Amino acid sequence: MRRPILAANWKMHKTTEEAAAFVDAFLPQVKDANAVDIVLAPTFTAIDRVAKAIAGSNVALAAQNVNPEEKGAFTGEIAPGMLVEFGCAYTIVGHSERRALYGETDDFIAKKAAALFARDIRPIVCVGETLEEREADRTLEVVGGQIAGSLAEVPEARAEEVVVAYEPVWAIGTGKTATPEMAQEVHAAIRGQLRERFGDAADAIRIQYGGSVKPENVDSLMAQPDIDGALVGGAALDPDAFARIVCFEPAGDNA
Ligand code: PGA
Repeated sequence: MRRPILAANWKMHKTTEEAAAFVDAFLPQVKDANAVDIVLAPTFTAIDRVAKAIAGSNVALAAQNVNPEEKGAFTGEIAPGMLVEFGCAYTIVGHSERRALYGETDDFIAKKAAALFARDIRPIVCVGETLEEREADRTLEVVGGQIAGSLAEVPEARAEEVVVAYEPVWAIGTGKTATPEMAQEVHAAIRGQLRERFGDAADAIRIQYGGSVKPENVDSLMAQPDIDGALVGGAALDPDAFARIVCFEPAGDNA
């Protein structure tokens, strides 16, 4: 079965001091959570400090973005090899904020994912529809297009290493969560599309839900058959709240 993966996306939050304080408070609370993958994605400036603070623990490191090139005249950008230096196991690509605010396209995101694979870093590839697209009944079409485009360069043999994050844009940072059933419908469609593309490897690919995940709703989301984890923004800024999310109760509403 798929090993759940719970990831904190800190976005543009936390100084190095604040990041270190989070790790100090967080690690003892999740030290026995050995059946799940736990990931922290700090800002680039806090990566070194967090890497040292989590060394030897059951928590892995992620970056929030990467440039697909290995080096060159790309002012302000960070290359995959620079992330390897800090032991980054994962990197988020194609977050909706980067798509919307910085004009990132599926093609660019596909190149980032390929560059990460070349450095043995697993991409967490984000997809999700806007409210307007959902209301126009275009959710599956939009998400399907993002999956096809963003995963276009994933090496077939390594499909199982991809993590997909389904994050409806209207649920991010708004306090509005997709109901578990709404999320499951999209997750199942994504898995169907992954099966067409990668065959049985689709059963091993983790699909996270993201968008206002909190301690109060994580259990019922994780109870859905195709929801394999969560990508958490706001609630993951607090060590106690994120620890509760990591230690979700899989039975959820059905308990
Ligand atoms: P949120 O953010 O949990 O604050 O909604 C999730 C994300 O954007 O990854």
